[in-house]
Amino acid sequence: MCGTSIDVSTPLSFRCPRASATDPHHVLHLVGAVDAPAADDPNPYVRYGPRLAWWAFARANGMTDAACEALTYEVADGFHVTPFERSSTLSDELGAEVWVKDETGNVAGSHKARHLVGILLHLRAAETLGLLGERPPLAIASCGNAALAAATLAGRVGWPIDVYVPTWMDDAFGDRLDELGARIHRCERHDDDPPGDPAMLRFREASWSGAVPFTVQGPENGMCLDGGRTIGWEIADQASEVGVELDRIVVQVGGGAFAACVGAGLGPDVRLDTVQAEGCAPLADTWARITEIDHPERYWAQVMRPWPEPRSLADGILDDETYDWIADVSVMAESGGSPIVAPEADIVAAHELATRAGYAVSPTGSAGLAGLLAIRDELRPGDRVAVVMSGVARRA
Ligand SMILES: Cc1ncc(COP(=O)(O)O)c(C=O)c1O
Ligand SMILES: [Zn+2]
Repeated sequence: MCGTSIDVSTPLSFRCPRASATDPHHVLHLVGAVDAPAADDPNPYVRYGPRLAWWAFARANGMTDAACEALTYEVADGFHVTPFERSSTLSDELGAEVWVKDETGNVAGSHKARHLVGILLHLRAAETLGLLGERPPLAIASCGNAALAAATLAGRVGWPIDVYVPTWMDDAFGDRLDELGARIHRCERHDDDPPGDPAMLRFREASWSGAVPFTVQGPENGMCLDGGRTIGWEIADQASEVGVELDRIVVQVGGGAFAACVGAGLGPDVRLDTVQAEGCAPLADTWARITEIDHPERYWAQVMRPWPEPRSLADGILDDETYDWIADVSVMAESGGSPIVAPEADIVAAHELATRAGYAVSPTGSAGLAGLLAIRDELRPGDRVAVVMSGVARRA
């Protein structure tokens, strides 16, 4: 990681300008976005719009606030501030005050679209401003919630999208992507491929040959970390509206963008602990490796090592690398949190408990609760802790 900054007014600034296909270990530092008060609007992309990088980009290039708002209603239609409530079932079970942010009814059934909509707004703004030319295709490697969110958003504005998936993706999921108008590429391993997921390799090839990385992985597209902060802003505002000072939030981690954004939005006063399943916990390993290292970001390949055989019922967080580990480490360090490794039994129990508490959530979406189960002995009556039910149970 080199620390290069880039001004938010620059079009299509998705990655650090020094990143390359052979040197991908960079983090985008966009500078020039502004803080702004929340507007009174149920759509978070209007409510917090002027804080976002795409909005600052559009304003710097001559779009008015009114035009930014109109574009938001076009691209980010259907986003609402999602519910935040105390769960009595979970509070009784855990012996603490448990608050739930419920993302199961969000666009495409998870929090993932939050990360992507800012990228699409940037593209639509660039197009409107005459800074784009022909539409480059969007590209993503995913066969889960991120792909669904990406295809849903792209379909709304008729933007071509290529989704790179593993050969084992189930056909029903492929049909849903197909209905949304995505082009699906089942990626086999080639003899001369380097190690790693072939879908990810093909996605990287496409994104270094002109496709837009439309992904929820910060190193591939740092702009995903911008719009994702809306979830943290919402939780902060909703907690303060009901007069609750949260002590702690426990957030499930796959690639790590989600936890980074919750932390960035919520701020360092709320302790943020991350959770991974015991069958895939690269972030906890990295955390242990870096305790004695100054500037661990300089040693990326040494300290963030791919997990050999990821395994868990929470199959949406089986990323073998925590791509956004630098941001995750920093939100934990600044808030006094640390990584939790949830035993698989807690992943299973959390899913049952969350379902019993009334959430139609997937095992991945309830994995934050598994983290709470894993630390339940530390919890005291009166502790105010939050989890995010981040994705809906998949239709069979
Ligand atoms: C429902 C759900 N929750 C949480 C996550 C984790 O998010 P991230 O990969 O940004 O850590 C995912 C990722 O796929 C997900 O689908
Ligand atoms: Zn860099």
